[in-house]
Amino acid sequence: MDADDQRPQRFSFEGAGVYVDFSRQRASAEVIQGLHELAEETGVLALRDAMFSGVHINTSEDRAVLHTALRLPRDAELEVDGVDVVAEVHAVLDRMAQFAGEVRSGAWTGATGKKITDVVNIGIGGSDLGPAMAYVAMQHFRDLSISCHFVSNVDPCDIGEVLAPLNPDTTLFIIASKTFTTLETMTNASAARSWLVSALGDAAVAKHFVAVSTNAGEVAKFGIDTGHMYGFWDWVGGRYSMDSSIGLSTMIAIGADNFNAMLAGFHAMDEHFRTAPAEQNLPLQMGLLSVWNRDFLKVPTTAVLPYSQYLARFPAYLQQLTMESNGKSVRRDGSAVTYDTGGIYWGEPGTNGQHSFYQMLHQGTSTVACDLIVIAQSPMNLGSQQDMLVANALAQASVLSLGRTAEEVAADGTAPELVSDKVMPGNRPTTVFMVKELTPFSLGTLIALYEHSVFVQGAVWGINSFDQWGVELGKKVALGILHELTAGESDDATLDVATRADMKKYLSLR
Ligand code: F6P
Repeated sequence: MDADDQRPQRFSFEGAGVYVDFSRQRASAEVIQGLHELAEETGVLALRDAMFSGVHINTSEDRAVLHTALRLPRDAELEVDGVDVVAEVHAVLDRMAQFAGEVRSGAWTGATGKKITDVVNIGIGGSDLGPAMAYVAMQHFRDLSISCHFVSNVDPCDIGEVLAPLNPDTTLFIIASKTFTTLETMTNASAARSWLVSALGDAAVAKHFVAVSTNAGEVAKFGIDTGHMYGFWDWVGGRYSMDSSIGLSTMIAIGADNFNAMLAGFHAMDEHFRTAPAEQNLPLQMGLLSVWNRDFLKVPTTAVLPYSQYLARFPAYLQQLTMESNGKSVRRDGSAVTYDTGGIYWGEPGTNGQHSFYQMLHQGTSTVACDLIVIAQSPMNLGSQQDMLVANALAQASVLSLGRTAEEVAADGTAPELVSDKVMPGNRPTTVFMVKELTPFSLGTLIALYEHSVFVQGAVWGINSFDQWGVELGKKVALGILHELTAGESDDATLDVATRADMKKYLSLR
């Protein structure tokens, strides 16, 4: 920065209404050039084109990866594996809009004829995090006469606390599960069904339960009318599905027009990623710099710091998007990688984080890359609070990157014995993102920006960003342990000694 005051001009770009300032990244023009060469050698853009056109790039599951098709406009054309994907997507969107409209207007009522006031989305992972994040992000756009709730954890306290204040007459459940076999979701769905049936009887289920899934057979088995199942496709990964019918709660909350505006935002960033020249391509630059940080600067983690309370759940959403996608150790051909993959993403909104973990960001021994997200305009006009918020974001960006030397600290008149305590190393790789307002459209652009950055990283690393085999073993082992605990036993010799000891302790305490 000191050597080149043109960095902000040369390293800031705008696409789909998102301004991104990469000038505080620790990369020279030469490094960026090298990263673009790396992208070329690893075939990133060819893989991008393959993804957009529906090639089965999810090789371990032999599936296309087409979340970008979820937001294609109605007049777009895309045929994949002999199917008109755009027509299918819009047919589901139209059914969702019809249903969401009826719930919002009160034309759809519960079994006792009352308007729905509470929608409970039961799902986990990608069937929860996106809708839950969007509900908070889009609070300002939502219909205040309907509240959405999100139940994900199999912890009985989750559903118990959500249902406690609700009235069965006016509650609608959305059972959201791509597979419709996920233990947590199916367990919570059964609990919800019992709660409803004990109040209103079996016949009420049809008016209080709808499903979002790819598995019509299991939906019917559960007792939900498949006429009220909103489908999606195996080419939508769970963590890429909030703009599919998994977003039904979002559409009920903000209405179909706003939901469509969100899809338009996603699409605008898709088009930017697909068509913008490499040097100005935001997701490409962002993904390449993430690889640079992870593998070359050995910075393992990125803090996502939205300066927006509406984006409070954005870091949690990104944890699944980034880490379930790129936390892999083998390449697409099954060979082991010989470099680090899958950066660690976490975060909290600013300014709250400043009073919590920023100390470590500034002076800790591990360098953390920082994504600061700034929303220029607030819908709340409360004196200078918005300027205060943004001033803090920009101050942090400045301090994280420039730090403060011993000489500068001493020059302030700091007592010599405290100088070393106050030195700030700086040089934290920092990116500032800025959008004018947080709207459905801009939310879509921000999410798609991260989606495609994740894609770029995975492509450079040569891994499959679209499967998640690492989550399977734990599910299987849990079933074995559950079987034992239900019987009050802890002596299954197929389980390891530590697990058996902990089970025994649990049985003595429960
Ligand atoms: O266990 C991980 C996972 O498969 C995620 O990838 C997915 O988002 C989540 O579980 C929920 O899956 P489903 O929508 O099939 O219930």
